[in-house]
Formats: sequence, C-alpha cells, structure tokens
Amino acid sequence: MTSIPSISLLFVLAMCAVLWAAAPAAPQGKRGIQKLSFGQLPDGQAVDLYVLTNQTGMCVKVMTYGGIITELHVPDRQGVPGDVVLGFDRLEDYLKGHPYFGAITGRVANRIAKAAFTLDGKNYTLAVNNGPNALHGGIRGFDKALWNAVATESREGLSVKMTYVSVDGEEGYPGNLTSTVVYTLTDHNELKIHYQAETDAPTPINLTNHSYFNLAGAEKGNVLQHTLKLNSSFYTPVDAGLIPTGEILKVEGTPLDFRTARAFGERISQLKPNPGGYDHNFVLDGPDGIMKPAAEVYDPGSGRLLEVATTEPGIQVYSGNFLQGDIRGKKGIAYGQHAGFCLETQHYPDSIHHPHFPNSVLRPGSVYRQTTLFRFRTR
Ligand code: GLA
Repeated sequence: MTSIPSISLLFVLAMCAVLWAAAPAAPQGKRGIQKLSFGQLPDGQAVDLYVLTNQTGMCVKVMTYGGIITELHVPDRQGVPGDVVLGFDRLEDYLKGHPYFGAITGRVANRIAKAAFTLDGKNYTLAVNNGPNALHGGIRGFDKALWNAVATESREGLSVKMTYVSVDGEEGYPGNLTSTVVYTLTDHNELKIHYQAETDAPTPINLTNHSYFNLAGAEKGNVLQHTLKLNSSFYTPVDAGLIPTGEILKVEGTPLDFRTARAFGERISQLKPNPGGYDHNFVLDGPDGIMKPAAEVYDPGSGRLLEVATTEPGIQVYSGNFLQGDIRGKKGIAYGQHAGFCLETQHYPDSIHHPHFPNSVLRPGSVYRQTTLFRFRTR
C-alpha cells in the first residue's frame, strides 16, 4: 500500500523533473575565445569572427570587418539566453550596405555640417554621404575598414583588440591616425569597449559603437515598450538636417526628459521637429573623461536591463527611425521602424564647428581615449 509520505516524495520528484525540463538551456560554449572565418571581402582579404564566451554563458561575436558586433547573447530573467543586437547572419549581407549595425563609427561619428571644416587655418573637405554633410566618417568610414585583431585574456576578462591605421587624407581627414578598439567581456556580464588613438597631424576624432539593441531579442518587433533612463539634463538641438544649432537646452518639460525612466514610445510622437523618433545628442551630467552612469534601458517583457557608463560627454539616443522594414536581418526577419535602439557614447555631433562644445581635436603627442561599459542584468 502506498503511504502518504511516499506520495509526497513522488510529487516532489515529479516537480523536480518538470523544473529540470524547464531549466535554462546550457550555455552554448565554454568560457574562452574562438577565432572563426567569416568569409572574404571582394578583394579576397579574409574576415575573421571572434567569439568571446564568459563563465555565465554570455557570448559576444565581433568581426574584423568594421569591428562589427554581430551577435550578443545575454540571459533573460529566466536565465534563457537571447541575441539582443540587430545584424545579419552572413558577411555578404553586411557588404551590401546597412545602417551601421554593430559597427565602430569613425573617424568622426555623427555629422559634420557641409562636410568641411577649418583647423589651424587650413581648410579640409570631407567625403559627402548624408545630404550635403559627412556622416559617420564618410563613404568608407571605420565601419567598412578591415581591422587587425588579436585575442587576449586578462584578469578583467576576455578581449579582442582591433587596430586600424587611417591614412592621411582618407575621406578628407588630416593625419595618419592609428586607432585601437578593445572589446572586453567580463564574467559579470559586462561588455567594455575601450578606444584609443594617436595621430601625426591635428584631426577631429569621435569614435563610438553603433550597435542596435533590442533587449527582447533581435527578432522581437520594436523597442517602444522598453524604458529609458538617462543621466542627462541638457541636449543639443538640431536643425532639419540633424545638424546641431549650437544651443545647449534643458530637457525639462520636453519629450527628451528621461531623468526618470519613460518608455521610448510614450512621447515619441510629440517630438518637434520630429525626425521619426529619437535621434538626439544628450549632454551627460557629470565630468568629462571619467566613467559615469549614462543610460539604463529595461525591457519589462524579458526582464533584461542594460546599464551604460562612459567617459564621454554625450550620448546619441537613436530609436532606429530610418529602419523601414526593407532590410532582412538575422533569420530573414525584416527590421521595421524602431526595431532597435542605439546608445552612441560620443563627443557632441559637429563639435568641430562649435568651439563651446567639448574639444574633439586630437593633436600629435596626445592620446585620444574613450571607454564605454555595457552591463547586462535582469530585474
Ligand atoms: C546615427 C545618426 C542617425 C542615423 C544613424 C544611422 O544614429 O544620428 O541620424 O544617421 O546614425 O542610420
């Protein structure tokens, strides 16, 4: 005869079996760095893909073409990993052209008005690729460069260090500029990006990463329900061509006030002029050049929380306004408007034309440095 205690034991065992079956999938790979081939450029040069996996199973994939983050797998609140960045499965799709998915943007991220500037009395004309302006380094910016890469491991985590030499005159910019970008994945689910550069002639510089995040998962529709919190009391307004007017205005009383967390979609239609959503440079509160909290984005559905800290004075919040559903990304999914958001830590756009903005000119003998940390948690 079955006794009561053995029935409860059976029940407990059955529950354990159910929970076991529902337990998160085991991390895809073991902690470490893998180097894989990701194909070839049209001129035959090989493109490598570095796969960094930490001890909790968080995994980031970065390729040497454009220093592009192609995949970023982080756990949701149940511990189930999901890829939270937009992009493609194959190199060929990146080569066809795309709106900077995951890429390092430079030599100067964002816009330079009229694609021209004067520095130390000399006039420079840049490649024009956005109306009359220069955007994200020009026609062949750092997002299309083939970077040299080496993998390293330190107490901080697993790293891939990328180097690119942009020669004097490239896209119109002065000076031979050597840039290194180190992606480090820590065991605390942080992705740290450290940028460093030196030049042999004065040049404007502004390096950032243009990842489009969707914390629900890259294939999960739009990010309008995600909430955003920004450590920012001021922003730099722009004209109809998205060129800063030079003013630095308070966010207070505008749809740009994210000092307390608000959903991306909540006030997006109130923006004036409305470039289809958020595409604004926010001035970060706190000192330049040292790490400070910048942004927090939370997806209530998955429970994923992204915290961003940076040494930079500004952050471009871009809500994927120009995505129109005509680009098919990973798994063939069409990316519609607001399918992802970018948090581009940066110097203010068009700083070269606004002497009262923080200096963006690098001179020989000085070292450009910027560090940005993306930390993933769940709530
Ligand atoms: C940045 C700019 C946007 C747009 C995207 C790329 O975020 O601020 O205006 O150019 O890059 O599509």
